[in-house]
Amino acid sequence: MQPREHWSTRLSFVMAAVGSAVGLGNLWRFPATCAANGGGAFLLPYFIALASVGIPLLILEFSLGHRMQHAAPAAIERIRPTFSWVGWWAVLMGFIIVSFYTVVMAWCLEYVVYSFFPEALELWRTDAAGFFEDKVLTIDKELQGGAGEMVWPLVGCLAICWGIIFLLIFKGVKQVGKVVLVTVPLPIVLVVVLFIRGITLPNALEGLQTYLQPDFELLKEPSVWLAAYGQIFFTLSLGFGVMVAYASYLDRETDITNNAFLTGLINCGFSFFTGFAVFSVLGFLATIPGNEKALEQAGGGLAFIAYPTALARLPGAHVFSVLFFITLLTLGIDSAFSIVEAITASLMEKFNLSRYLAL
Ligand code: TRP
Repeated sequence: MQPREHWSTRLSFVMAAVGSAVGLGNLWRFPATCAANGGGAFLLPYFIALASVGIPLLILEFSLGHRMQHAAPAAIERIRPTFSWVGWWAVLMGFIIVSFYTVVMAWCLEYVVYSFFPEALELWRTDAAGFFEDKVLTIDKELQGGAGEMVWPLVGCLAICWGIIFLLIFKGVKQVGKVVLVTVPLPIVLVVVLFIRGITLPNALEGLQTYLQPDFELLKEPSVWLAAYGQIFFTLSLGFGVMVAYASYLDRETDITNNAFLTGLINCGFSFFTGFAVFSVLGFLATIPGNEKALEQAGGGLAFIAYPTALARLPGAHVFSVLFFITLLTLGIDSAFSIVEAITASLMEKFNLSRYLAL
């Protein structure tokens, strides 16, 4: 057995945990969920969910990894040998998430490239949905289910994304600790830029009103509370064994509770802030004829259709488009490699593999 690796500093650990938590979900899931579930009023169930479940479970996952110095399956096995499948189950869920997460990142990469082409921007301005479906995904309208042709540019981008993930983590935790010092602050800075651009656009305030106009009546609906708790689980990457694996590299001396509070508060504060960057731009988009539904966008429709449409109409469209898709990429990358790390660590421990082999 090789001696266990450790983070170089506590900051590296907190940054890595924040990096896993802060992901695409903060940008395309939280703001839309908030707007649809009572706007400003949603913050109440959201922060109650954070305090009652989010931070306690973070503390639990951190403590489990820290105490056992192993990733989820082996850590749980040390508590009760017959339960190690719970850890493997979490890791399997992580694998499913990372499989689609990297595909979304591949789309982002392709969009970064397209941002340099005036023809692409022209299409975003007029028919961003068509561009996304026909050019990027090349959805075959005749095809009902079943697999279509391989979309080679996307396959290439996907391979590049996996290559980058591999390069960033194959040297181990010390290196991850350095990488996150860039991949965590960078998207935050970029969102600040988008925020400044967003709030100086016409009609931004109407957008923000959709985001935050409180509807306290909705708090009586159980579905709103469910949405709040669901978002907290997703956004803090809870139940995937990621936080357990990361915490297993902590030194004996550390303040788990403090780390968990930092991770939870930075992540959720950032989600709230991102909503301003998203909805100010959507407010602007809603003024453009044909885009009246802009303010109801979420998920892929928001990131790859609505937002590019708006950006393509701004002066300096190329720059803002590149900025936006790099933001998405850097948001995604540290979440993606956190899952890969959780899977790798679990395999290394189970089969006594080297990091290289497990990857
Ligand atoms: N927290 C990530 C986000 O908000 C998404 C996510 C969910 C995730 N589960 C995960 C990331 C597991 C890493 C590991 O986008």
